[in-house]
Amino acid sequence: MSEKLPPGSDSSPSQDKQKHGTTRRTFLKSAGIVSASVAGAEMLTGVPRAEGQEQAGAVGPGKVALKLRVNGEVRTVNVEPRTTLAEALRDELHLTGTKVVCDRGSCSACTVMLDKTPVCSCMTLAVDVGDRNVTTIEGLAHGEDLHPIQAAFIEHDALQCGFCTSGMVISCASLLERNPKPSADDVRTAISGNICRCATYPRVLEAVVAASQGKGA
Ligand code: FES
Ligand code: FES
Repeated sequence: MSEKLPPGSDSSPSQDKQKHGTTRRTFLKSAGIVSASVAGAEMLTGVPRAEGQEQAGAVGPGKVALKLRVNGEVRTVNVEPRTTLAEALRDELHLTGTKVVCDRGSCSACTVMLDKTPVCSCMTLAVDVGDRNVTTIEGLAHGEDLHPIQAAFIEHDALQCGFCTSGMVISCASLLERNPKPSADDVRTAISGNICRCATYPRVLEAVVAASQGKGA
């Protein structure tokens, strides 16, 4: 089951569901009805506001212009307050490397980084992102130079169908940002929420350990 947490949260999505007594359907619906204020979304989802983000006035339910810092660039999207970060990335910014598989916080295929924290973008409202930098799979490589994790995935054949791969790569890259020399158990914990139906886990483990030792490719 997914361990990917909403930013700053210390509980899993299923725990959040129990704590807040809400489902994704009800939170999205409520986020529109309750004017989708940032504070309202925080209350409903357990996703804390970005640091320094003031309580916003009521916005919505129509579209609002939001500035998102994505892969180091400030981009403007016009979205309803109920729009998830995954939808904003894919449908507005056409960054389709972020995959939506379960769309309910169970598989982590949609993982992106908010600053250095991996989050499920299908469970994060775009209005909650604030000033944090969103890193998607498109933002990892520098031109032709792959991120060491990307190179290691290729070298160690750590993917099959690819549905989980962008989220898996982001979770691993995020781990190395926070812990450049992870143990095998650290890697297992970091990817414990990333469900791979092709069972590539042993190869992913090899790839991350190799990348951390500078032997990715
Ligand atoms: S957790 Fe977001 S698509 Fe599965
Ligand atoms: S490579 Fe197929 S789901 Fe992971």
